[in-house]
Amino acid sequence: MANLQYVLHKGNKNTGSLKFVQPEAMQAVLEFHNGIAGYAQTPLVSLPNLAKQLGVGQIFVKDESARFGLNAFKALGGSYAIARYLCGKLNIPVDGNSFNVLCSEEAKAKLGTVTFVTATDGNHGRGVAWAAKLLGHKAVVYLPEGSSQERLNNIRALGAEAEITKFNYDGAVRLAYAMSRKHGWVLVQDTAWSGYEEIPTWIMQGYTTMAQEITAQLNGITPTHLFLQAGVGSMAGAVLGYFASLWQNNLPVTVICEPDKAACLYKTAAANDGTLHKVTGRMNSMMAGLCCGEPCTVSWDIINNFANAFIACSDYYAASGMRLLGMPQSGDARIVSGESGAVTAGVLAALMQDPELAQLRNELGLDENSRVLLISTEGATDKVNYLKVLSGKWKPENK
Ligand SMILES: Cc1ncc(COP(=O)(O)O)c(C=O)c1O
Repeated sequence: MANLQYVLHKGNKNTGSLKFVQPEAMQAVLEFHNGIAGYAQTPLVSLPNLAKQLGVGQIFVKDESARFGLNAFKALGGSYAIARYLCGKLNIPVDGNSFNVLCSEEAKAKLGTVTFVTATDGNHGRGVAWAAKLLGHKAVVYLPEGSSQERLNNIRALGAEAEITKFNYDGAVRLAYAMSRKHGWVLVQDTAWSGYEEIPTWIMQGYTTMAQEITAQLNGITPTHLFLQAGVGSMAGAVLGYFASLWQNNLPVTVICEPDKAACLYKTAAANDGTLHKVTGRMNSMMAGLCCGEPCTVSWDIINNFANAFIACSDYYAASGMRLLGMPQSGDARIVSGESGAVTAGVLAALMQDPELAQLRNELGLDENSRVLLISTEGATDKVNYLKVLSGKWKPENK
């Protein structure tokens, strides 16, 4: 069923929340990624014909499917956090040469073999496994119940010890934390909570490379609207925070999109009572990357200050976005976008075309002059489901 709920939001625009995503300091993060063998900027694709069809001025989609050959943006965070941790042990800064330094025999001799542990819906764990392997360390990865075999296999293929647990995402995070304490492993988790904030902050800084690339690729154009999908909100907070620092009063109207089964940020914004609200239990949305029930404390501060609206929507919108991007208007480029990557495109289309959403469209000021920025955060990370959706065999009640 198509289900879309929204809440408008007015933040305090407190720039104090932006202290760790300042553009000048983030340059070193981009330089670090640039120094990794195989780094290449991912494309920012303009879709003029889709824009015309939907009645907006321009649509730009950052296509993360080619990131480091891993099919999602996530390795930006894991790789930077692992490098920060290891460089910290060596007492050296992270810069464009860090990757080479950390790969050297001398560094390895000093560091020994470190085991990094994490919980993941798939993409983050794949990034951590990849970075650990490249740098000659170990990774242990826990996936939530119901995770796809393809995602598990991709992580194991990178040499990590990985298993599908009987917990939801948040339970798998608790397991990873407990195992890190028990075995002395380093927890590299992509979400923060009180008392565990340093590494998640580094992960968010790693994500700013996407925003830095986008800024260069836009070549002076400032979007009027930004749609960001969220699980725990680390990605949305990092990107929104970077742009809020950079564009200040020209910050685009920003809409945060989540699956209705795991809409912890929406719930927190709707309650607006100064506390974080959780979603518990089984979160059975096909947007696996967004099935997280507990907001990231560090990123919420940014999102709360700068986001303009929160949307909780059903899988119908993810499927719609996958088809819009995967079977494009003639003349537009094709973007292979997975469930979590495509949901914002589906939401944008609904906002422009569904008469029942006209009020929200007007509130957000979406019209023929709008320049909309979307991030397709993953490619087809569950190929079986991707083909089902694009072939029209997927029905909302399938999942
Ligand atoms: C493809 C994809 N998009 C978006 C997200 C959301 O990121 P966050 O959990 O930081 O909100 C994830 C998280 O795993 C993801 O895998």
